[in-house]
Amino acid sequence: MKKRPIIIDTDPGIDDAIAIAIALFSEELEVKLISTVAGNVSLDKVTNNALKLLAFWGRPVPVAMGADRPLLAAPLDAGDIHGSSGMDGYDFPDPDRSNLLGEHAVNAMYRVLKESGEKITLVPIAPLTNIALLLRMYPDAKEKIEEIVLMGGSLTRGNKGVMSEFNITCDPEAARIVFESGIPVVMAPLDVGWKALVHPEDSVRIKDMGRTGEMIYALLRKYRGGGLKTGLRMYDSCAIAYLLKPELFEVEETYVAVETTGSLTAGTTVADLKGYLKQPPNTKVCTDINTGMFKDWLLSALKRCD
Ligand code: RIB
Ligand code: CA
Repeated sequence: MKKRPIIIDTDPGIDDAIAIAIALFSEELEVKLISTVAGNVSLDKVTNNALKLLAFWGRPVPVAMGADRPLLAAPLDAGDIHGSSGMDGYDFPDPDRSNLLGEHAVNAMYRVLKESGEKITLVPIAPLTNIALLLRMYPDAKEKIEEIVLMGGSLTRGNKGVMSEFNITCDPEAARIVFESGIPVVMAPLDVGWKALVHPEDSVRIKDMGRTGEMIYALLRKYRGGGLKTGLRMYDSCAIAYLLKPELFEVEETYVAVETTGSLTAGTTVADLKGYLKQPPNTKVCTDINTGMFKDWLLSALKRCD
């Protein structure tokens, strides 16, 4: 089967780790590059975590380090959600740094795009700083980007700002550049992430899925994105789920703008579902998710990750 080429831009991040696992072991996706960006924790820590994951699975996917801070906003931190390392809970072997490219992630993304005989889908599951820099430094990169399928934003309320989601709040200016780029964007916002849940009985099943299952179970015990009773939120896996099982989602094409100047609202994604702003659509927004079908999909996908 022809695999869909993707580049994952990530800030692991416990939910990132699960999304990366599913993408790496999927029959339908070819992960051409993993680029890292400061987000959940520092650039060094998220890069270390990406390398640890690839060493754990013995997968020599190239990794490139990107931006160590947002374009303008002050760096945020989600160590309270993922642990101080950004991926607490499992004692990984030392990362194998042979995967780590010497070039900046933006240059690596551009090279991979230019070298590819086909368009590539970008899958940012982190702040959009690297993607914005790519589009500004290399405007012709657009010609080789199939789609940008991102986890980020919210149709309702926030999980970092009152009205804004963490990835977009980290770098509102970068997000605005991406949504205004003219490249087809698919947005998996909090509204689906809040329903993409793993409950304790699921974690126990994951634990029995082998070596990867044990590792993910150990990470989930430290993950504070949600709770044991309400379920742990698999935000980033929603972006991968859209690629692999789009029928999980209700999707609406609409115009999305990013607020960058509000002192209380910077990072808010304004999804104009009723067309008040009279702008052409720029985003496919996942407005809902089949929670039972997602759970079944996630568990069966994780079963293949070994
Ligand atoms: O708001 C959820 C997003 O922020 C996820 O990508 C999670 O990893 C954190 O980066
Ligand atoms: Ca993330």
